[in-house]
Amino acid sequence: MRSDYTKQIFIAFAEGDKEKFLDIAHEIINDEEKKNHNYIAKQLKDIIKEFSSGKILNENLVNKRYKNAIPIPRDTEKGFPLLEIKEFFLDWSDLIVNEDLDYSLKNIVEEIKQSEILFSYGLKPKQKVLFCGPPGTGKTLSCQVISSIIGYPLVHVKFESIVSSFLGETASNLKKVFDFIENGQWTVLFDEFDVIGKLRDDPHEHGEIKRVVNNFMQMLDNYKGESLLIAATNHHHLIDPGLWRRFDEILLFELPSENERLELFKKNLKNLVKDKDLNLEKLAVDTNNYSAAEIERICIESQKKIILEGRDKISTEDINWAIEKNGRRKVIEGK
Ligand SMILES: Nc1ncnc2c1ncn2[C@@H]1O[C@H](COP(=O)(O)OP(=O)(O)OP(=O)(O)O)[C@@H](O)[C@H]1O
Ligand SMILES: [Mg+2]
Repeated sequence: MRSDYTKQIFIAFAEGDKEKFLDIAHEIINDEEKKNHNYIAKQLKDIIKEFSSGKILNENLVNKRYKNAIPIPRDTEKGFPLLEIKEFFLDWSDLIVNEDLDYSLKNIVEEIKQSEILFSYGLKPKQKVLFCGPPGTGKTLSCQVISSIIGYPLVHVKFESIVSSFLGETASNLKKVFDFIENGQWTVLFDEFDVIGKLRDDPHEHGEIKRVVNNFMQMLDNYKGESLLIAATNHHHLIDPGLWRRFDEILLFELPSENERLELFKKNLKNLVKDKDLNLEKLAVDTNNYSAAEIERICIESQKKIILEGRDKISTEDINWAIEKNGRRKVIEGK
């Protein structure tokens, strides 16, 4: 980095001049990009994105929310935490989904943003949402994006740990989680929600699981807090029909279309210098039935390959190599 930049950025910091700081930061990023230092340029951009998305401005608000919350609940038997709190700084451009889903997700956010107006008409924003769809299609990512935009930190609840080996503890674990989210404004993700559905098929656990399902439904119904509650599942057909009507919105995440795959390749390779033979349109055609997560993995794998081989341009051959590698993985996974 040029020494005059270092000096200027120190002055901007000392003067508390955010605009000046951002101007210099962008010049530094441009400079790095010109030198083909794409990796560091991307890292710097990500830091600036967090900075400008208001992380710093929102800090007081977030601290206030955390202080009001009770300590993180733990499993009585094993002592592990029943939930995890995380903050994200993402935006809609991080998510590539079809138009309908895009609209529905933005609508959830819009209703929360304009909840006062809805309340004045005796209406309430959507609060209980179910995300369905195959692995790697953006269910968790959507929760992270929504959490970033509405500014409610993400409370990640894994059903797997709630429904632990001590099934008798399950109801009490669920209650602890709901007591926790009763206070504060959180984006709550009940992940691997289908664990309930899966266990219902096990005759030994039948009675207990039925109780858990009823318990969860009751807690959803009685929930009086201000958080947004999202349950996510890969196996929505396994969910008890009684649960469906408890949700204000049910959204289906699907494997990406050809056009979405093209967008995913563009997004995941945007910081790389491309060989002139690189044909993203053809790659989008060749990856029919691939999930967004697989395309992301393919891009990361091929990027690592060129970095380790000391090259700076990515070619079709590199991506095809990663596609083949991913294919072998699919065979092992039995997909
Ligand atoms: N629609 C999408 N747009 C952009 N990136 C995506 C999308 N879906 C998935 N990804 C990427 O793939 C990875 C996995 O996605 P995510 O965790 O959201 O999948 P999921 O639907 O929650 O899967 P699972 O059912 O296995 O929990 C993330 O790192 C994310 O960046
Ligand atoms: Mg997920």
